[in-house]
Amino acid sequence: MILRSLATFLLTIPPIAALLQSACLAEDKISFVRQVAPILQNHCVACHGSKKAESDYRVDSFQALMQETSEGPAFVSGRRDASHLYQRLVTEDADLRMPPESNPLPTSEIETVERWIEQGLVFDGSSAAAPLAELLPVITHPDPPDRYPASLPISALLLLTKHERILIGGYHEILVWDYAGTLKARIRNQGQRTYSIAMHPIKPLILSASGTPGKLGEVRIFDLDSFELRGIVAQTDEVIMDAQFSPDGSRIAVAMPDGTTRVYSGSNYAEKERELLGHSDQVTSLTWHSDGIRLATTSRDHTAKVFDIERGESIATFTGHSACVNDISFAGDKTLLSVSSDGSAMTWNAETGKRIKSLFSGKQNILACCVRQDKALVVGEHMVKWIDARNGQQLENINIDDWCNSCDCVSGGENEDVHLLGTHSGRILLLRDKREVSNFTASPR
Ligand code: HEC
Repeated sequence: MILRSLATFLLTIPPIAALLQSACLAEDKISFVRQVAPILQNHCVACHGSKKAESDYRVDSFQALMQETSEGPAFVSGRRDASHLYQRLVTEDADLRMPPESNPLPTSEIETVERWIEQGLVFDGSSAAAPLAELLPVITHPDPPDRYPASLPISALLLLTKHERILIGGYHEILVWDYAGTLKARIRNQGQRTYSIAMHPIKPLILSASGTPGKLGEVRIFDLDSFELRGIVAQTDEVIMDAQFSPDGSRIAVAMPDGTTRVYSGSNYAEKERELLGHSDQVTSLTWHSDGIRLATTSRDHTAKVFDIERGESIATFTGHSACVNDISFAGDKTLLSVSSDGSAMTWNAETGKRIKSLFSGKQNILACCVRQDKALVVGEHMVKWIDARNGQQLENINIDDWCNSCDCVSGGENEDVHLLGTHSGRILLLRDKREVSNFTASPR
């Protein structure tokens, strides 16, 4: 390290910097949030962030960025020569230059950093500890392709029986289909892939969780009538798998990739009311209890939990699965059903975390579940099963060669059950009382 520091020091009295000095006379104020943070987010956070921190050095929040590097201070106000992070951008020694094994950053971006140093390292964000991704301005996503070159696996779906519409997560969009498989609308300006779609209990608003792996995760709210973007609830640097309105719509729960579960106000989306800690890895799904106070979550850390959001803490933990827990659903007031990649579907007591019954246990990955009047639907790798949630008795199966990745079930009226299934090959199956009503490929072709 000493040797390297010395080398950095000697090699980075850079002619480029001298040259640039004259080029950056313009004295417009540099905004950290709008100009500097995006540079770090795009070029550095992948190796110096919460998931991976090369050299134990992070730049994923303003606070982290301002920590000393092992070579000295990252930034010194007004002094490029003493700002070691800056030196790592401009050194001519390709072995030291960041990002490694690639071209230097574009001159315009280097200039931005230089001017920010000259102007005294001003921070114009709301919180120095917040991940940079949360400070970034609203992103406008690229348009989706008119036609998809291949069908897209179904990663999120929602059945709106009242409107007779099926909402599907597409590529940078949410697709709105009618029951016959005709594309009715395309909601654009959405993250690359969508992982969950939910409807507000009263207002015509839809909530989506989406993202691009390793780069971005977002929760957006759209108007269901005009399809316009109404707000961004959460933004972070890894995909967000789930977000749900509370039963009365007054709150929004978000499953964060860092293992936390966040609760936001349902009217002022920017206001974070709670941060629930307890999972040690990505939260994969969540579901509200009808009381609007309890919230059940599942995680890659192999556990599922129940939180009391008023107390702000976990009140029960279920440790009966041995792999990632993928989905969860209430089966009555005090019972939860959770399904896991270990091939098991289990019910457990939501107050004690104790197992009630193993409903099913196989070798196949189980990806999703939902419960309607004691009947549990569990779907996964080559399987679609209905099981009695009280006694584990297997009721029906549908033979499917494909992976079924997602499901939704709602009441279609008096004693009528409607089920929506989505598969890995991009097909949608709509069943009413177990009879197929519709079966189509949900990609614009
Ligand atoms: C592909 C991964 C990768 C990317 C992208 C990357 N770095 Fe690094 N960085 C490393 C590795 C590996 C080291 C440790 C080896 C070294 O010191 O050269 C390192 C070390 C550093 C250090 C020294 C930290 C210390 O305390 O010793 C700084 C400062 C740094 N990087 C800044 C940046 C900045 C700024 C960017 C974005 C412009 C960036 N890095 C992008 C991999 C990366």
